[in-house]
Amino acid sequence: MPQQTHFGFKTVPLAEKASRVAGVFHSVASRYDLMNDLMSLGTHRLIKRFAIEQTAARAGDTILDLACGTGDLSEKLSTIVGSTGHIVLCDINESMLSLGRERLHNHGVAANVSFVQGDAEKLPFNENHFDAITMAFGLRNVTTKENALRAILRTLKPGGRFVVLEFSKPLNPVVENAYRVFSGIWPGVGEIVTGDRASYQYLVESIRMHPPQDELAAMMTDAGFSKVHYHNLLNGIVAIHQGTKG
Ligand SMILES: C[S@@+](CC[C@H](N)C(=O)[O-])C[C@H]1O[C@@H](n2cnc3c(N)ncnc32)[C@H](O)[C@@H]1O
Repeated sequence: MPQQTHFGFKTVPLAEKASRVAGVFHSVASRYDLMNDLMSLGTHRLIKRFAIEQTAARAGDTILDLACGTGDLSEKLSTIVGSTGHIVLCDINESMLSLGRERLHNHGVAANVSFVQGDAEKLPFNENHFDAITMAFGLRNVTTKENALRAILRTLKPGGRFVVLEFSKPLNPVVENAYRVFSGIWPGVGEIVTGDRASYQYLVESIRMHPPQDELAAMMTDAGFSKVHYHNLLNGIVAIHQGTKG
């Protein structure tokens, strides 16, 4: 029997997950930013700002925005690293990466950014290359997270920082129940806005299947990161994990 993994609540052959995830993001790409604003009631912008602060990025840094999607983190990071620094936007999905390219182009950001289509599990970059790596709402979608964590560690410079922003497990059961009810309407909203209910059903299910805070922290430590810790935001609906190389 082939190795299996989960795609939302479904069990699928390991080799099938990436193409299923690709289908989701090809389908939702054009309405991705609008849906993010609707589903998070705008809070994703503040959360992402906090994640960027955790990178301790400064002028001259070279930073990878992995699973960059439509590039909102990259745009802010490019301002921080300035003309002596560089941001690489990397995403496995051509539709999402093109929207990132379009956003940065439309906002006049070109000099210190580059775009690479690539898989987090097999990062096409040299060892010890990046001062920091961000991954916002991407890790959940990766087939074998352990492979991605090892690839990220390899490409970070010694002392470099990995900041991962993901949905996580609410601390308070009342918040958890309220959030379940709220997120239960996302597939319906997705159907109205994008015509695609199934992709937003996957989103809700993938959030529930993602490792909670301590489990993800342990996975990062097992992959070889040091100083692993996390911040809960919105009572743990999302968490920002950090780890350092060396
Ligand atoms: C929910 S979006 C997040 C986009 C953006 N970082 C944000 O915060 O809005 C998840 C992104 O992860 C990308 N992705 C999924 N699997 C990936 C992989 N194995 N390697 C790189 N990117 C991946 C998807 O194509 C998609 O653009």
